[in-house]
Amino acid sequence: MKKVVVLNTKGGCGKTTITTNLAAYHAAAGYRTTLMDYDPQGSSTRWLSKRDESRPRVNGVAAFERNTRVTRSFQLRAPLDTEYLFVDTPAGLDPHSLTEITRNAHAVIVPVLPSDIDIHAASRCIADLLLIARIDRREERIAVVANRARKNTRVYYALTRFLNSLEIPFVATFRDTQNYITCFEQGIGIHEVQDNRVLRDRKDWQPLLDWIHSRKANPMQAAFQGTIRSSETVS
Ligand SMILES: Nc1ncnc2c1ncn2[C@@H]1O[C@H](COP(=O)(O)OP(=O)(O)O)[C@@H](O)[C@H]1O
Ligand SMILES: [Mg+2]
Repeated sequence: MKKVVVLNTKGGCGKTTITTNLAAYHAAAGYRTTLMDYDPQGSSTRWLSKRDESRPRVNGVAAFERNTRVTRSFQLRAPLDTEYLFVDTPAGLDPHSLTEITRNAHAVIVPVLPSDIDIHAASRCIADLLLIARIDRREERIAVVANRARKNTRVYYALTRFLNSLEIPFVATFRDTQNYITCFEQGIGIHEVQDNRVLRDRKDWQPLLDWIHSRKANPMQAAFQGTIRSSETVS
């Protein structure tokens, strides 16, 4: 199982949009896919509730719900045959949750809006991932995507410079378009739309998909799955 976490401690930068589109893409491509929602606002869970049953299946885990009748690890259990686990996260994650959620992740995607405030917030978030969650930069598990961005703008270049200075790969740019909002309302992803108007947006995703698919298996994976298997219900 590959675990992909979409994270930025700032709200509104596109975490849910990116997580749901990744889940829809992988389900439609035939992978057994699970979407885990840590955000108490439950936006990903809402997207999933809008998804028609005839669509390729995405399993949902509402990680934000606290169920005192079962252990936490039981509650966070993805179906054992899951091939891709996509994790949506809330804004303002505390350091402890940041570490817990990114544990054993093959890939951590940080969406950034091209504004000065957002670039600063993202740099703090990436620093926390490196220093608090102790993700080693050399493992190349973190990548940034620019969301709602226009290339060749001043702020876009500022974002590029900032990412180069951190030596964190900048893998994709998504434009600002109503297409994402329409997809969300229908519980689908941009790759499930058969319309020429989304061709350009679908192309924008390819570098991010390639980057995710090139992440190596995590040596901690076996231990992680062992934890899941041994979790028990507390009566
Ligand atoms: N590329 C985009 N183009 C247009 N609207 C977008 C885009 N990405 C996100 N949005 C919209 O911006 C708002 C915030 O996005 P969302 O994915 O919910 O962010 P987050 O989960 O980080 O809070 C939503 O209304 C979403 O539909
Ligand atoms: Mg969200």
